[in-house]
Amino acid sequence: MLTLGIETSCDETAVALVDDGRLLGEKLATQIDVHALFGGVVPEIASREHLRVLPRLFKELMAETGVSPDEIDTIAVARGPGLLGSLLVGVSFAKGLCLSTGARLIGVNHLWAHLLAPGLVEEIEFPALGLLVSGGHTHTYLIKSPVEFELLGKTLDDAAGEAFDKVAKTLNFPYPGGRFVDLLSQEAEPDKKLFPRPYILNQSLDFSFSGIKTAFANYVASHPELVFSEMADPQAINALSGERREALCKVCASFNWSVADTLRIKVERALEQAGRVKSLIVAGGVAANSMVRDTMRRVAAKKKLVLTLPELSLCTDNGAMIAYAGWRLAQAGYSHGLDMEAIPRGRVVPLDWCITGDKTGNE
Ligand code: KG4
Ligand code: ZN
Repeated sequence: MLTLGIETSCDETAVALVDDGRLLGEKLATQIDVHALFGGVVPEIASREHLRVLPRLFKELMAETGVSPDEIDTIAVARGPGLLGSLLVGVSFAKGLCLSTGARLIGVNHLWAHLLAPGLVEEIEFPALGLLVSGGHTHTYLIKSPVEFELLGKTLDDAAGEAFDKVAKTLNFPYPGGRFVDLLSQEAEPDKKLFPRPYILNQSLDFSFSGIKTAFANYVASHPELVFSEMADPQAINALSGERREALCKVCASFNWSVADTLRIKVERALEQAGRVKSLIVAGGVAANSMVRDTMRRVAAKKKLVLTLPELSLCTDNGAMIAYAGWRLAQAGYSHGLDMEAIPRGRVVPLDWCITGDKTGNE
């Protein structure tokens, strides 16, 4: 079954073609440079960029894979959660294609897609515990099958990636700064007493990362020498040396450890609550973080679980994960009608599929 995946939920425009779960080709355009000037994603600009770039990426994908739009069986699109204006670009494009080709439409939960993405390269063992750590979300799920997700815990305020990016912004690193915090962290041992591990002194599976961000900002306010006087580019960060570099690496490693260890505590707690699972899946942009990866490797080894950690290119937003998740849903017999809604961040993505009727999903 040929499945096209379309991703436009935030600042990456991406398309990919998957044939029965095997990736045939993908195209991705990131808007990071456009938004970096503003220190965060500007929703209006993001939508316009998706509108400008998406048709070209689709044409290029068709040309490179030698597939004609009429051959596509299923069109999977990220329908949320995300920036509403951005989602609408992808969803409208998908509906137009379905109308013109007769392909089946399937709306994909962007968060589920992150967690299923490793299925593109390895068989996922279900039931699994999923940790999704991205710029917008920090969720744990009990994943019973590719189409059955039970939410266990979520962030009450900032997502882990958001905390990384805000901390990076405090230091005047370019947006999104999570990966620079990670890079510097690798050069120092963390001071485990420097920052709190937030919201762990309870039985909750939820997360809260806004307090640690404030703790970091307070620390930096009393150590202003850590901050770049103007926004640093990657070369400036690289060129930093001597005691200032050492101090910056230490503070980054300490923050990174507090986040990674908080994730560990909550994942171990979720595992106790979830009952018997076979694997641990860690996905989303922050799954690219080296300390988070090492921590989760240790958790999986201790609990004797198969660890499923996507390769770095599959951690951040991409079209392949949408195509793959869409294929799994289509395989299970699900589809959407052309009245499918896009779901903004903050609203739960409904399970409003229809059981497949004709190819457009209309029963
Ligand atoms: O999943 P993603 O690409 O986008 C969504 O939010 O859906 O995640 C992006 C987030 C950003 O906050 C970025 O700073 C963070 O992932 N990130 C990292 C690393 N690489 C990306 N955070 C910490 N360490 C990294 N190596
Ligand atoms: Zn994402």
